[in-house]
Amino acid sequence: MTDRVAPTDGTVGRAAFSGRKVLVTGGLGFIGSNVARRLVELGADVLVVDSLKPDYGGNLHNVAGIQDQIDIHVATVTDQALMSRLVEGQHYIFHLAGQVSHLGSMQKPFEDLEANCQTTLSLLEACRKHNPHVKLVYASTRQIYGVPDVLPVDERHALHPLDVNGIHKLAAEWYHRVYCRTHGLCAAMLRLTNTYGPRMRVKDARQTFLGLWIRQVLEGREIQVYGDGNQRRDLTYVDDAVDALLLAAVNETCAGDIFNVGGDGPICLRELAELLIAINGGGRYRLVPFPPEHRAIDIGDYYADDQKIRAQLGWRMKTPLREGLVKTLAYYRANDRHYWDTSQELVAAATTTPPDRSATPSPLQS
Ligand SMILES: NC(=O)c1ccc[n+]([C@@H]2O[C@H](COP(=O)([O-])OP(=O)(O)OC[C@H]3O[C@@H](n4cnc5c(N)ncnc54)[C@H](O)[C@@H]3O)[C@@H](O)[C@H]2O)c1
Repeated sequence: MTDRVAPTDGTVGRAAFSGRKVLVTGGLGFIGSNVARRLVELGADVLVVDSLKPDYGGNLHNVAGIQDQIDIHVATVTDQALMSRLVEGQHYIFHLAGQVSHLGSMQKPFEDLEANCQTTLSLLEACRKHNPHVKLVYASTRQIYGVPDVLPVDERHALHPLDVNGIHKLAAEWYHRVYCRTHGLCAAMLRLTNTYGPRMRVKDARQTFLGLWIRQVLEGREIQVYGDGNQRRDLTYVDDAVDALLLAAVNETCAGDIFNVGGDGPICLRELAELLIAINGGGRYRLVPFPPEHRAIDIGDYYADDQKIRAQLGWRMKTPLREGLVKTLAYYRANDRHYWDTSQELVAAATTTPPDRSATPSPLQS
């Protein structure tokens, strides 16, 4: 642990980042913008680079209120000349640029290759040549485990990804590991599970099913839960994910190391839909058969064993699921127009029964 840092409650203090230069790739996206916001609070000199490609989660509103305090480059991380300039002098780099849709990676595998692998190689090459002493933190994913052999899943679990996105995220992890081993770079990799919270993409299910559910429940539309809804998942509130990323950055013992980040224990998707509807004060959901293209890449039950990050970095989950969902719904009630075309909602409202916020829960709720 560096002497600039003394995390006692699982949160990195101001001393760690104040006055430090930090680059966030994907910094206009969901997790990246939350990292950027925290870094600004901690007094860091923040530079973000993000391509703002429409299918991804980048959104200028994600940096509303801090846009004058950060340096924003709307550009692609695959631009090696640009990255060579941008990495120079940085103390930390959080690499969050990427493509997150699993189904999207099956439909457009070369796009996924570019967003997850080419970006990573471009960044690592820039660091190797122009800033080999920077500390890198990479946002990897639990998707690389594929269908778990045993639960909960720890970092020693076999890796057998079942979609193109999982393969590319695994390759990106290995690029980092090889550059650490052979070129002496210093990187930590966090295998995130479903992360949720303010600034996630909710206009569709490209980022996560939960994003679309949030929009649907707020619009009074029916949520569709695939299969029997008994699939168990764990979810991390984004502030807790940011804690984990920052702790990994300031910890000097984790060069090339890998950590699972879990959540508030497993919950099955049917119960998650019921909880969301209850917190919203109304709504409905329906179990529907798995679309075949989703079934083919579904990992079934997953929840993480995250003892390692708790023991080694002092991370802990602070935001229970209910509290996180309350905060998330409140954010999108106030900011909906920045995340989806609310005129569509008006059209829908004019043609269907309006949502009754005080309605009794649907019969499917417990
Ligand atoms: N959200 C989750 O639940 C979750 C779970 C596990 C892992 N992750 C990982 O965390 C990272 C961030 O995910 P997110 O949920 O914030 O997604 P996001 O789509 O909101 O953010 C990714 C950002 O990267 C940007 N980007 C993509 N390609 C780029 C390029 N070539 N150059 C510059 N910018 C580019 C996008 O414009 C977007 O703003 C991803 O690598 C993802 O795999 C996310």
